[in-house]
Amino acid sequence: PAERAALKERIRGLLKQKNAVMVSHFYVHPDLQDLAEETGGLVSDSLEMARFGRDHAARTLVVSGVRFMGETARILSPGKTVLMPALEATCSLDLGCPADAFSAFCDQHPERTVVVYANTSAAVKARADWVVTSGCALDIVRALHADGQKILWAPDRHLGAYIQRETGADLLAWQGACIVHDEFKAFELEALMREHPHARVLVHPESPAEVVALAHAVGSTSAILQAARDMQASEFIVATDMGLLHRLRTLLPHKRFIEAPTAGNSATCKSCAHCPWMAMNGLAGLAEVLESGRNAVEVEPGLIPRARQPIERMLAFTA
Ligand code: 13P
Ligand code: SF4
Repeated sequence: PAERAALKERIRGLLKQKNAVMVSHFYVHPDLQDLAEETGGLVSDSLEMARFGRDHAARTLVVSGVRFMGETARILSPGKTVLMPALEATCSLDLGCPADAFSAFCDQHPERTVVVYANTSAAVKARADWVVTSGCALDIVRALHADGQKILWAPDRHLGAYIQRETGADLLAWQGACIVHDEFKAFELEALMREHPHARVLVHPESPAEVVALAHAVGSTSAILQAARDMQASEFIVATDMGLLHRLRTLLPHKRFIEAPTAGNSATCKSCAHCPWMAMNGLAGLAEVLESGRNAVEVEPGLIPRARQPIERMLAFTA
């Protein structure tokens, strides 16, 4: 604890000295969430991280999360330095959607409007008409569908199927998955629901359809937080990365939050729902990059103007 407190103090000093602000995702270690909040930064979902980074006056953004979040910050703020505690923190959705194969897929369906999840590389975004996050995907696709547009969606197949079911859009989906949410299990969840009959079930839409079907509320990390605040219930089962559980327990200490079951359940690992790439972020790494300026996120300059357009479109739509 003494070492952690010293690291936090060092980071506070470095943030001031370097005119830097912290932007942390709900899935990173609680220390990085709390410190972002305490120092005037942001802890939020990927949509609000992008907006906050773009609009904040600081010269340096320190993004605790995964690579696509750092890249989005870089694309939206070419004049700022963007640092990440772990540059190699990627995402199975990004890895499962290589730009060349995706581009060939788009070429085969030129009549479709290309909508991609934020969890993609800059090169994939540069090929898109729209970027969306789980916080705004439904509203944006609903508007495109109402306008008569057919959708090409990538890369998360569960989120794509959920959007399709909810909006009725003609949606052709890439077949990627999040290795964390893909593990939630409906059969075990039903058993847990029987044990806790009054609990409300909150589910991130990257989860399989059978799990989503059991939910009382489905949404992005921020939407889950909001639902837990708004619902009268005192007990919740939550199907998303356990990083959000910390946030829920901190903000709503009088309510009880239970991890939804995954295939990895065992006596030693109750939920196992934690993203290995989010877990690469830590206090020591953060202090080190602030001190040294190492781990600056770079995006190929030729991609930036094309990738920025669909992200800015999303931010304007949700403003
Ligand atoms: P949101 O914070 O947008 O819900 O993102 C989920 C996610 O998996 C990010 O990695
Ligand atoms: Fe990607 Fe899933 Fe990790 Fe989010 S939780 S960064 S979607 S692998």
